[in-house]
Amino acid sequence: MKKHLYANWKMYKTRSEAQCFLGELDCVVDKSIGIGAGFTLLSDISMHSKSLGIKIGAQTMSEHLEGAFTGEVSAKQLKDVGADFVILGHSERRYLIGETNEVISKKVESAIGQEMSFILCIGENIEQREGGYTKSVLKKQLTTALCGTIDKYPSSMIIAYEPVWAIGTNNSATPHIVNDINSYIREEVGELYNKEYAKQLPILYGGSVKLDNLESFLSQSHIDGALVGSASLIAKDFNKMIQMIERG
Ligand code: 13P
Repeated sequence: MKKHLYANWKMYKTRSEAQCFLGELDCVVDKSIGIGAGFTLLSDISMHSKSLGIKIGAQTMSEHLEGAFTGEVSAKQLKDVGADFVILGHSERRYLIGETNEVISKKVESAIGQEMSFILCIGENIEQREGGYTKSVLKKQLTTALCGTIDKYPSSMIIAYEPVWAIGTNNSATPHIVNDINSYIREEVGELYNKEYAKQLPILYGGSVKLDNLESFLSQSHIDGALVGSASLIAKDFNKMIQMIERG
């Protein structure tokens, strides 16, 4: 399977910083590179990024289509400013904002209904890992998030395994651990839908991925790419990561 590379810029970059960043990137041939940017950047940078062959996406969205939901942004509005995808269920939204599996499930349904591609993030925290609950936590996150989609399986879904303890810590999980977990996620997706679908589903890893460890993750059979936070903010590094993905 071809490998994917997605940036999660979180709450970083102004419009001019984002334009400068894009100005430092080479064009890409693969359709498997994307940047998850803040809402305020999307409209401004979508043309530029698309001209480079890079998809642009948001980092969350409302589960509602429209209505009196102050401060929220819908799938329809995201598409209107050129977003190609949205990140759903990121642990910073789960833990800092209080998004539950049930809310994430509604967002997944809304994304599918609006034909918006999405990256579903799942991952255990350190207590859950140390308690031996990693797989049961992932199973619950996965089955709840996808429970409304069982008869119409998502054609443009990507899953990102992002253990909370590895995010922003410089303490990434080992490629071996991630490969084992991603293989487990694939099995579970196979149970939910079917094995053929699970086989071609991109399952990424996120959590302290840097230029110097990306290759070690990409070399694993069940790791189909990376969702990169802080290292994706540096244009020079991100460009080198793109080149790595393009070389295959
Ligand atoms: P870091 O790469 O900064 O650990 O962040 C990972 C992440 O949260 C990607 O969604």
